[in-house]
Amino acid sequence: MTTDTGRPDQPRHAELGDGRTIPRIGFGVFQVPREQTVDAVGYALRTGYRAVDTAAAYGNEREVGEAIRGSSLDREEVFVTTKLWNSDHGRRSADRALARSLDRLGFDYVDLYLIHWPAPARGLYVDTWEALIELQVAGRARSIGVSNFDIEHLEQVIDATGVVPAVNQVELHPRLQQAELRRFHADHSIVTEAWSPIAKGRVLDDPVVRELAASYGKTPAQIVLRWHLQLGNVVIPKSVTPERIGENFRIFDFTLDDEAMGRIDALDAGERTGPEPATFNG
Ligand SMILES: NC(=O)c1ccc[n+]([C@@H]2O[C@H](COP(=O)([O-])OP(=O)(O)OC[C@H]3O[C@@H](n4cnc5c(N)ncnc54)[C@H](OP(=O)(O)O)[C@@H]3O)[C@@H](O)[C@H]2O)c1
Repeated sequence: MTTDTGRPDQPRHAELGDGRTIPRIGFGVFQVPREQTVDAVGYALRTGYRAVDTAAAYGNEREVGEAIRGSSLDREEVFVTTKLWNSDHGRRSADRALARSLDRLGFDYVDLYLIHWPAPARGLYVDTWEALIELQVAGRARSIGVSNFDIEHLEQVIDATGVVPAVNQVELHPRLQQAELRRFHADHSIVTEAWSPIAKGRVLDDPVVRELAASYGKTPAQIVLRWHLQLGNVVIPKSVTPERIGENFRIFDFTLDDEAMGRIDALDAGERTGPEPATFNG
């Protein structure tokens, strides 16, 4: 990874397999109520975030678009991700789903379009991936990827089309470290994007995290988010609290040493906060 970095070891962008780049930190808006979204996204953009992660299912794409248009930034300066919901799997449905998302956002392209879940019981994720490939060729999604895909699902779409998802956005935090999946991503140049990167706040009371926070003079959230960066992950923490939005962004000015990284690595417990991808069909 290279590009505009304050520190040589932790670039501000990750390189995608399709030649584009994605900011290493984005602002997640799952469960940000519609009426708070314009303010929260606006605040995040003023803080310095240049990526927003939304989804058709979050019900706040319209407000995300409004916040970006209301900022002092040009559309090109903000990396916008949205996702296709399970009920929109299938070739024709996928096309219409992106059209509706673009209409709500008020944009003519998204930077990254993801299949939200493989929804294996629907049996349509390969067809849906084929549709996304066409949407990328048409320029309506600059990059395309997937979310909550296990290795088996990734292999299916790659084998069927030869096109590798640029990103797999998965649940990932100290209690669910996904080592095998991350190795598969690294072998195939897939960027690992961590959702619930601080385990919805549940990992912040962990004694090891608290001890490291005290010794580095950082907050527990900053320690965990920095651990992600040093693993090579892209992170998309969510908050509606201005101080936390700012705090979560200030993770480029310190480095965890190997011992600290090892202590967090040892917290893995295979514990999910969300659904199991192999059986969640929405
Ligand atoms: N692809 C998927 O299936 C999927 C699933 C889930 C999430 N996501 C994406 O990932 C994003 C983040 O995941 P998430 O929202 O589930 O969890 P998260 O970012 O791990 O945690 C968010 C929670 O932690 C709190 N928090 C945030 N920063 C904090 C800090 N510095 N100190 C203490 N508490 C803090 C927030 O509270 P306040 O807001 O009250 O400050 C909120 O309750 C979502 O917004 C969404 O964009 C994707």
